[in-house]
Amino acid sequence: MSTAVLENKPTVPEEVPTFTATLIIRRFDPEVDAEPRWEDFTVVMQGTDRVLDALHKIKWEQDASLTFRRSCAHGVCGSDAMRINGRNRLACKTLLKDLDLSKPVYVEAIKGLPLEKDLIVNMDPFFESFKEVQPFLIASSKPEKERLQSPVERARFDDTTKCILCAACTSSCPVFWTDGQYFGPAAIVNAHRFIFDSRDEGASVRLDILNDKEGVWRCRTTFNCTDACPRGIQVTQAIAEVKAAVLRGTP
Ligand code: SF4
Ligand code: FES
Repeated sequence: MSTAVLENKPTVPEEVPTFTATLIIRRFDPEVDAEPRWEDFTVVMQGTDRVLDALHKIKWEQDASLTFRRSCAHGVCGSDAMRINGRNRLACKTLLKDLDLSKPVYVEAIKGLPLEKDLIVNMDPFFESFKEVQPFLIASSKPEKERLQSPVERARFDDTTKCILCAACTSSCPVFWTDGQYFGPAAIVNAHRFIFDSRDEGASVRLDILNDKEGVWRCRTTFNCTDACPRGIQVTQAIAEVKAAVLRGTP
């Protein structure tokens, strides 16, 4: 056998260190429980495991009834927003090693939306608000070619294109908790995405919708939404820009 072949032989991976994590999860089964209850689980995890991996491990090895949403597992689909140690985060983007594992990790459903089961809430009110701001391109003409836009025009709404509709912002907003009628930050972010798009012709309609009593003026600029956003969107700034546009009556 040649030396080159020997040098290319696969290396045996070093053993990955393991650690123990205790998760205290707020459980609720509407068929059994009158009220939510806390239940603790201890799991052995390793390396760069995330809270989502711990939830999977609990479901697969300890309690198959544990219920939560997830799809992509990589911060793209927005389906696994939950409160982890009191902060809204995506379970798939929260590394266990970044949490203080000398204490239990508290996991519960996001607030302000009807609790359905364990970590799952009813997202219908959230998506109703989203739909109300008309989050799609409105244009009267049908061009022969693509609608051109300069880099500067594109940059105007770049930040708000990053939204994955996870609801972490809206469900961290104290106004939304106390007043289910408020559109909430995510709907305003998605209105911003089109209001400031130079190709769109529906800004005045959206600004009118957001000037409503349930619209942008309910925002109290607490910055919870910006802190919660897993995409790093400057949510409060986007809301401020929409407020200014409402006052001007134009983007
Ligand atoms: S703005 Fe951020 S926190 Fe809010 S729904 Fe979009 S991605 Fe989630
Ligand atoms: S599972 Fe898709 S964002 Fe976390």
